[in-house]
Amino acid sequence: MRIGIAKEVKPAEGRVALLPNHVKQISSKHEVIVESDAGLLSGATNQDYVAAGAKIVNTAESLFSGSELIVKVKEILPVEFDYLKSDHIIFTNLHSAADRPQLDVLLERGLTSIAAEEIHQYGSPNCPLAGEIGALEGLRLTLASHGGTGRHFFPHYGAPACAAIVIGLGGVGRGALRTLLSLGVQVMGFDNYDGALFRSKLDWPQDNFTTHQLNELAALLPQADMIVNCVLWDKTRDDHLITREMLKTLKPTAVIVDVSCDTAGTIETCKPTSWDDPIYKVDGIRHFCVDNIPGATPVTASQGYGNALLPYVNDIADFGVLEALKRNPWLAKGLTTFNGLLTLKEAAQVQQRKHTDLSEILNSCSG
Ligand SMILES: NC(=O)c1ccc[n+]([C@@H]2O[C@H](COP(=O)([O-])OP(=O)(O)OC[C@H]3O[C@@H](n4cnc5c(N)ncnc54)[C@H](O)[C@@H]3O)[C@@H](O)[C@H]2O)c1
Repeated sequence: MRIGIAKEVKPAEGRVALLPNHVKQISSKHEVIVESDAGLLSGATNQDYVAAGAKIVNTAESLFSGSELIVKVKEILPVEFDYLKSDHIIFTNLHSAADRPQLDVLLERGLTSIAAEEIHQYGSPNCPLAGEIGALEGLRLTLASHGGTGRHFFPHYGAPACAAIVIGLGGVGRGALRTLLSLGVQVMGFDNYDGALFRSKLDWPQDNFTTHQLNELAALLPQADMIVNCVLWDKTRDDHLITREMLKTLKPTAVIVDVSCDTAGTIETCKPTSWDDPIYKVDGIRHFCVDNIPGATPVTASQGYGNALLPYVNDIADFGVLEALKRNPWLAKGLTTFNGLLTLKEAAQVQQRKHTDLSEILNSCSG
C-alpha cells in the first residue's frame, strides 16, 4: 500500500502523524511518501525520512494523488478538499460532528475516513498534553501583566495561591491537575462521574485539591482565578454547565481556558480559536479556546501520536482496511464514512443525517 504522511496546514500546527522512527517500523513491501517538510517542526527533516526508507514529494497535491492511505493529525481543511478521491483512506482527527462542510465532502467523495480521536483504548496520548499546556497557559493569563487576577500560583507570605476550577477529570483534566497541583495552585475538581472524583483524590490527596459535585459549581465560580474546562461534552446536549448569565458572577479578570472547546457546549460562550488568535472576550471575560493545544509541543506530541497510530497503519497496510477494521474494534469505532455512508453515530445525531451501522458494512463486504 502507498502510505502518505501529509504536512499539516492548520496555523501553528507542527505535529506530524508519523516520525521517521515510526516509518522504519512499516514493512518495506509498502511505500511511504512524505510531503516535503511535514516533520520539520517535529524535529524530523526530509533527510531523516529518506534515511528511514520514505520518499519525499514537494506538494500536497502530489502527496494526496500518490497515496492510498493518508495519515494526518488535524481535520481536513477546505484547502485540502479538492485533493480527496474516492479510493482514499483518510486517518486523522476528524471531529466531524462539529464540521458539516468536511463531512459533506467525505461523504460526497465516497472515501473511507477514520477518526483518530476515537481509536484510543487508553485515551489519546495528546490529551494529557492538552490539559498540561492549557493549564500552564491559564496560569500565564492569571498574571496581572496579561490582564489576569494577579495571583501567583504558589502561596506567598500568607497570600493564598491562585484558585482554579477544573471541570472534567479524564485524560485532559488529569493533565491540567498535574500542572496546577505540582505548582501549588488551589484546585477545585468537578466531574459528573463519582469514580473520576474518587480516583483523582486518591492520586492527589493533598490539601490544595478538593473535589465537588456539579451542583456546587455555580456557588464556587466567583472564587476562581481560572476555569479549565476538560469535559467530554455530549454533542447532542443543548444546555450548558456555565451559561453566559453565569459569567457575571466571575471575577472580572478571571480567565476561562476551554480545552474541550465545543461551540456552545459545556460553556455557552465557547467557540474554538487558534494559536494565531487564541483569546476573545465575552462580557469582559477572556476565553482561551485553542483547538490544537498540543500543536505547541510538536516534537513531544508527534512521538505519542505516531506510537498510537502505527499499529493501525500497519494493519490497514498489511491486511486492507476492511480486514483491519474487523480485527480491531477500536479502529472500527473510529470509522466515520465508507462508500458514501456515515457510520459515526454522534455525527449523524448532531447533524441529523442517516446513520449506517458499522456491522452492515463489515458484514456486507468481504476482503
Ligand atoms: N483543545 C485541544 O487541543 C484538545 C486536545 C485534546 C483533547 N481535547 C478535548 O478535550 C475533551 C476531553 O477529552 P478527554 O480525553 O479528557 O476525555 P475523557 O473521556 O478522558 O474525560 C472527560 C471527562 O469528562 C467527564 N464528563 C462528561 N460529561 C460530563 C458532564 N456533563 N459534566 C461533568 N463532567 C463530565 C467524564 O466523566 C470524564 O471524566 C474532549 O472534548 C477532547 O476532544 C481538546
